[in-house]
Amino acid sequence: GELIRLGLAGLGTVGTGLAKILASNADWIERRLGRRVEIKTALVRDPSKKRDLPENADIRLTSDVQDLLGDPELDIIVELMGGQDTAYELITGALRSGRHVVTANKALLAHQGNELFALAAENQVGLGYEASIAGGIPIVQTLKEGLAGNQIKVLTGILNGTANFILSEMTSRGLDFQSALHQAQVKGYAEADPTLDIEGMDAAHKLILLIRLAHGQDYPLSRLPVTGITHVDPQDIAFADEFGYRIKLIAQVRETNGLLDAGVFTALVRRESILGKVDGAFNAILLDGDAVGPIMLYGQGAGDLPTGSAVLADIMNLARNGRTPNNTGFQNAMLPMASILAPEL
Ligand code: NDP
Ligand code: HSE
Repeated sequence: GELIRLGLAGLGTVGTGLAKILASNADWIERRLGRRVEIKTALVRDPSKKRDLPENADIRLTSDVQDLLGDPELDIIVELMGGQDTAYELITGALRSGRHVVTANKALLAHQGNELFALAAENQVGLGYEASIAGGIPIVQTLKEGLAGNQIKVLTGILNGTANFILSEMTSRGLDFQSALHQAQVKGYAEADPTLDIEGMDAAHKLILLIRLAHGQDYPLSRLPVTGITHVDPQDIAFADEFGYRIKLIAQVRETNGLLDAGVFTALVRRESILGKVDGAFNAILLDGDAVGPIMLYGQGAGDLPTGSAVLADIMNLARNGRTPNNTGFQNAMLPMASILAPEL
C-alpha cells in the first residue's frame, strides 16, 4: 500500500527506539494502518557518528534542518532532538507548512505549548505529544479521550524516571547519588541536561502539560513550586525506611471549587502503597475523576522502546485517515488561567 514517510529529527535514545519498533513491527503496523511507515530522513548533529540502527533501515542522515522542512514528500515531522532552539524552528516550520508534528519535547511544550498548539490548530494539523509525559504510559490519550467526560479532582504522579531510578537505587542497593545518576544516564533515561531531572523541572514540565490536558488551563510554570531530589541524602532514605516509608518525587494537581493547587515535591509515601512500590525508571499516575472514580496508570516512564511506543502511537493516530486533530482536547483551544490556590501542598 501507500507509504507514510517520516522526517525524524534526532536519532538518540528515543529516535533509535522508534526506528527499532518500526523495523520489528513493520508488518503489524501495516496490518493496523493499511500503510507502511518509514523514516526517510533523519536530522542529527553528526551524520558520520556510528549508530546502532536496524539492519534494513534505509535512513538518509542530514545535519541540515532545511532537509526536513524543504522535503514535500515527508508526511509527518517527528521531533526527538530536545532543546528549545532548533526544535522550535523545526516544529513551527513544519506546522506552518501544513505538516503533522509528533514530539517528545516536554520542555518546549511547557514553555511554548500555547503558541505551538494555536499554530497547529490554525494550520489544521496535529501536534502529538504522547511521549512527552511519562514515557510509554498513554496518559495523553487517556485524558483527552478515555476520561474526556470527567472533571479531574486530583492527579498525583511519579513523572520522572531518572529521579525515581536514583531514589530506588539509593534505597535498594545503597548506591550514592552520583553513581545512581550516572547509571540513569548510561541507560538513556536522563535529559541531556540532567539537572532538569534531579531538580524537579522535568516533572514540572510534564505537570504543566497534564494540567493543560486535565483542566484546559495554561498554568504558568513560574507559579509552580518545584523541589527536586538533590537535597535527599542516604540518611533520610534510611530513616524513612525504618518507619516504613519511601521518599518519592511527586507531582500533583488538585482542583477545589474551581481553584487549582499544584506542585512538584519530595514526599514520604508508605512502602506498601501503590506509589511506594514504583521502582526504577517506572512512572505512575493516579487520578480521581468525578464520574469514573479512581484510575491508576503504571509503566516505564523513560527509555528507548517505551518512549518509542508512545511516539509511534501518535504517528499511527495521525496517519489514520479522516481524523481531525484536536491537540489539547479542549474546543476553546486554551482557556484562560482561572485561578490558582495558595501554592502550598
Ligand atoms: P539524545 O540526546 O539521546 O538524542 C538527541 C538526538 O538529537 C541525537 O541524535 C542528536 O544528534 C540530535 N540532535 C540534538 N541536537 C541537535 C541539533 N541542534 N541539530 C541536529 N541534531 C540534533 O536524546 P533523547 O533521545 O534521550 O531525547 C530526545 C527527546 O525526547 C528530548 O526532548 C527528551 O526530553 C525527550 N524524551 C526522552 C526520553 C528518554 O527516555 N530518553 C523519554 C521521553 C522524552 P547526534 O546523534 O549526532 O548527537
Ligand atoms: N528524563 C526523563 C525522565 C525522560 O527521566 O523521566 C522521560 O521523559
